[in-house]
Amino acid sequence: MPERRPYIAGNWKMNKLREEARSYVAGLLPLIDGKDSLDIGICAPFTALEACASAAERSRLRVLAQNVHEEESGAFTGEVSCSMLTEIGVDGVVIGHSERRQYFCETDRALQRKLPAVLAAGLEPILCVGELEDERENGETERRLRHQVQEAFENVEADAVARVVVAYEPVWAIGTGRVATPEIAQDACAFIRALVRDKYHELADQVRIQYGGSVNDENARELLGQPDIDGALVGGASLDPAQFARIVDAAL
Ligand code: PGA
Repeated sequence: MPERRPYIAGNWKMNKLREEARSYVAGLLPLIDGKDSLDIGICAPFTALEACASAAERSRLRVLAQNVHEEESGAFTGEVSCSMLTEIGVDGVVIGHSERRQYFCETDRALQRKLPAVLAAGLEPILCVGELEDERENGETERRLRHQVQEAFENVEADAVARVVVAYEPVWAIGTGRVATPEIAQDACAFIRALVRDKYHELADQVRIQYGGSVNDENARELLGQPDIDGALVGGASLDPAQFARIVDAAL
């Protein structure tokens, strides 16, 4: 089985002005210096992306956006295309985050077009999936994950699949402090990998799957020790570079 490099990404959500973003990156870089056995990224708001990309230049820190439109250009007021991101040095993009699904009507159908567009542009996608609390209570977690994964991967060619990062983020764990137990997170990530394996066979072993939802520097190590959890997507606890760096250390 191929080794999967751990991948820790911080999702700032709608936080940090450009100056704050610059000083965050300046503070983080020395803390992650030499930690070459894993990948590290920050997902910044559109307005701070260029500042982050230039502050992170010549480092291994990846800079990601938090959304993108699937079309290259056109009459889509308020949207941003993949080439607008690559032009300013962005490395990747989070798509399908539950907050976008919940508040901005992001659908699995739209993700079916976004994921191939992101890959074609040479950007790294972090595709978020995860069940609602009701769905877990009603025994519908697997049904929900199956639908999300199958829809999103519908148009992804086999030669690109290893570049997809999936983040399993149970919605009930996001921003609540109710982190999933390592067993729950491992079971869901193994299930997601099995879904990818159904379509892409052994290539599924190359797909990295992160866990997200109330990850912090105290619970990260146990989560990251699970066999199918290859990293973390960290919200609140990523806003402080020192705490984020401690989560990175938990993956070493
Ligand atoms: P949280 O957010 O770590 O604050 O729960 C995770 C996420 O939304 O990606």
